[in-house]
Amino acid sequence: MKTIAEYQELISNQIDILEDNRSQLALYDPVSYILSIGGKRLRPVLTLIGTDLFDGNLEDSYKSALGIEMFHNFTLLHDDIMDDAPLRRGKETVHEKWNINSAILSGDVMFVQAFVMVTSCKTEYLRSVLDLFNVTAIEVCEGQHLDMEFETREDVTIPEYIEMIKLKTSVLVGCALKLGAILADATEAEANLIYDFGLNLGIAFQIQDDILDVFGDAALFGKQVGGDILANKKTYLLLKALENANETQEEELNSWMNVTDYQAEQKVEAVTAIFNDLKVKEQAESVMWSYYDKSIEALNKIGLPKDKYDYLLNFSKSLMVRTK
Ligand code: IPE
Ligand code: IPE
Ligand code: MG
Ligand code: MG
Ligand code: MG
Repeated sequence: MKTIAEYQELISNQIDILEDNRSQLALYDPVSYILSIGGKRLRPVLTLIGTDLFDGNLEDSYKSALGIEMFHNFTLLHDDIMDDAPLRRGKETVHEKWNINSAILSGDVMFVQAFVMVTSCKTEYLRSVLDLFNVTAIEVCEGQHLDMEFETREDVTIPEYIEMIKLKTSVLVGCALKLGAILADATEAEANLIYDFGLNLGIAFQIQDDILDVFGDAALFGKQVGGDILANKKTYLLLKALENANETQEEELNSWMNVTDYQAEQKVEAVTAIFNDLKVKEQAESVMWSYYDKSIEALNKIGLPKDKYDYLLNFSKSLMVRTK
């Protein structure tokens, strides 16, 4: 196995090659922009890890891994429109820097480019890769739909929240790993177990993202802190707060969710204060770790050599204690 930094470097190289060969049409400016401002490159790294875990040829996975990152970045362009987000990776979002139409259309072309890259694998794996990627892309749309629908619903339950984040986020984490495994000719059982590992890790990852959205350090997080509160996102934090609130706290939360004319800072401050009083961060962290544990249970079943197992264990743990 390589270090995470080495895998990230391999992905960076692929992005450089893409950039060197790109069309000069302005349609592609936002594509270059979003890929150049960084990000953790978690998903393509997981594809490469998936290939290395099962002793595949890493080079055979470069294009598909890049396709997974392209797909992820496409979802971010559209997600930032939907969430009315001003900041991404510490920089202006694409729809703010250009306009909404550009973010929609550049996102669309990224989706197709992603498809081309992901499916540029050896023909023998094409059927499995297509099935996996197509199902995943549909599920991400379903998850994003639920995320938006929940903004205006007042009866969202915690199981519904978990299902929503599984669809919008975790399936792609599972897909990234499974794709790498398929390209390494892993058995179906191995590919499915690495998918389950990714699925549960992805749920934990999104819970951490929701925690950071409220409690992250603005200087490190790279996104607008409090964005979820402003958009009335039904995160675990909010659902748990509503569940445990006394009458006054419940009234206050409900009134903040229904006001139309307010100061953004005041709303974020007031809702965060209730979250603090009710200690929902600690409760969210505990649920996050329970999904982390589930991911490790799936990992245990694969029967990986100890060095590879420890590698994944350490990497998974580092995702739970990140700052961005
Ligand atoms: C952001 O994903 C979207 C979520 C699913 C939380 P990342 O946190 O992986 O974002 P980048 O790619 O590193 O910027
Ligand atoms: C994003 O969820 C999921 C997808 C982009 C599919 P969020 O809306 O929480 O992601 P961030 O916080 O904007 O990165
Ligand atoms: Mg968002
Ligand atoms: Mg969103
Ligand atoms: Mg978020």
